[in-house]
Amino acid sequence: MKRRDALAAMGAFAVAGSQQVQAQQPITIKFSHVVANDTPKGKGALKFKELAEKYTNGKVKVEVYPNSTLYKDKEEMDALNSGSVQILAPSTAKFRPIGVPEFEVMDLPYIFNGQEGYEKIVDGPIGKSLFKKLETKGITGLAYWDNGFHMVSANKPLLMPADFQGLKIRISGSKIADLYFRALGALPQIMAFSEVYQALQTGVVDGCENTPSNYYTQKFFEVQKHITNSQHAHLQYALIANGKFWNGLPGPIRQQMDKAAKEATDYSNSIARQENVDALKAIKDSGKTTVHTLTPDQVKAWKAAFKPVYKEAEDRVGKKIVDDLLKSAGISV
Ligand code: LMR
Repeated sequence: MKRRDALAAMGAFAVAGSQQVQAQQPITIKFSHVVANDTPKGKGALKFKELAEKYTNGKVKVEVYPNSTLYKDKEEMDALNSGSVQILAPSTAKFRPIGVPEFEVMDLPYIFNGQEGYEKIVDGPIGKSLFKKLETKGITGLAYWDNGFHMVSANKPLLMPADFQGLKIRISGSKIADLYFRALGALPQIMAFSEVYQALQTGVVDGCENTPSNYYTQKFFEVQKHITNSQHAHLQYALIANGKFWNGLPGPIRQQMDKAAKEATDYSNSIARQENVDALKAIKDSGKTTVHTLTPDQVKAWKAAFKPVYKEAEDRVGKKIVDDLLKSAGISV
């Protein structure tokens, strides 16, 4: 072999070798979220990692970053857009900054008739239409993850609408939550989840709303003397991926990832209820706060105060989606 041919052969060998190395490099997925590992979403993310790595035989590696360790609320959406992370599961209250405020319709107070009512909406045409809107933003909606109904808290009992008068209440971003707390006479303030504990502790805000699993794992119950298990609104997440990344996955890997996402969803949704029951019990057992349940008359008074919110919501998220949801939920205003 002439020297030139020999060099060419060596070069070809080197290219083939590097392609082989590249083929063996796992595809790395960053999955960022803001809650603790020990919550329905935290456990769902870890299950997704386990299944994705198993089904792809290690061709995909998932790095889970819980508790805002990589990005906080707003930053994580920017990071998904730019491709710095590939998967998130933000609450549906946090989609306004990326231009799909319609998700907030699911924050309407007392809108879901229990668990069944919630599932009917996310699994039905409304859940699907919201994911369609996401596609136009370059984001793929994979599934909805459940985290149950909200409680609300302060350092005084919150039993009647008048109890909220003038209280500063942290909200996560939804303009619908803004409306319903204003309807109770409170002053809602948007704040990143990672900042809530300190804000409650130092009195920057007087109160907040969240589900038992978040109250427990973030220790909000230690800095709030009274919690009302009002179940006035529901917390759900959208498991979402950077569309270019997800749709660009090689065929077989994409199928394995779809399977991992589906099974992680079933798992997370199946544990959500019990996780919240256990967290509520742990909060009560701690003796650090008092948990109140509303009487039917108190619920009636809250619902009366919320009445104008359904109409006002039209300006915030659009008349059609509000009408559709009210119709599906069987609520007339
Ligand atoms: C919040 O910010 O209150 C929640 O959405 C956090 C979460 O992801 O559960």
